[in-house]
Amino acid sequence: MTATLTREPQHVGPLATRLNGILASRGIDPATAIAGEPPTEPVTALELADGRIPARYRRALASHPQITAWAEQTAEAGRPGPGGPGIAEGRSLLITGPTGTGKTHQAYGAIRALLGRGVRLRWEGTTTADLYARLRPRAGHDTERDLQTLARSPLLLLDDLGAAKASEWTEELTYRLINHRYEHLLPTLITTNLPTRELRDALGDRVASRLAEMTERVILTGPDRRRRTAPSA
Ligand SMILES: Nc1ncnc2c1ncn2[C@@H]1O[C@H](COP(=O)(O)OP(=O)(O)OP(=O)(O)O)[C@@H](O)[C@H]1O
Ligand SMILES: [Mg+2]
Repeated sequence: MTATLTREPQHVGPLATRLNGILASRGIDPATAIAGEPPTEPVTALELADGRIPARYRRALASHPQITAWAEQTAEAGRPGPGGPGIAEGRSLLITGPTGTGKTHQAYGAIRALLGRGVRLRWEGTTTADLYARLRPRAGHDTERDLQTLARSPLLLLDDLGAAKASEWTEELTYRLINHRYEHLLPTLITTNLPTRELRDALGDRVASRLAEMTERVILTGPDRRRRTAPSA
């Protein structure tokens, strides 16, 4: 899928910031790009998504066979639409493994694989700790609406489930989020460091039971990849 954006010099606004970044990554100075001049190459959905993917995972490639199979199946199941196939109801993945085994990398790799296959994808991604911070009730902010946005998103990446400190409030919130996705068969990518039993203790039985039914478990093993490479950032 390609975006139908006209390139204008020095675009302004959040989408424009991303577009300027894409132009810059192609070695084109946005300030000197000529308004109305047709782009040499169309801007792809994958490039547009880059700005929403954390920098560390911007080039992530899903390599685990269960994850590539999931991306392939999810892309093929997509509903036809004017801008390319959309994401449909489907399976979810629970990516588990110790620290640094590449769970988040594989999850963003899966999203990139869908975008690369031209799936017209609306997706949301958050760590659970950020989710709880974002949804904490506060004056002047409609947190219920934020919860609905995440719950209804056609694809959701819920990173580090079970890592944040639990309370009755976090349990209820996680339950509402997971239950909505469970009931509506919405594809969800979940990563966690916790083994099954600890996940159940951390999230409560109602969430654990739904996850057992709605997700395929992907187990990553191996050393902490962060400690194997020389630090770069
Ligand atoms: N298949 C891969 N190829 C290259 N680099 C990888 C791969 N998988 C992971 N990495 C790199 O290894 C590091 C750890 O990966 P990642 O953050 O995905 O681990 P994680 O399992 O999510 O860890 P945590 O449990 O702490 O959240 C990152 O720098 C990531 O970019
Ligand atoms: Mg991670």
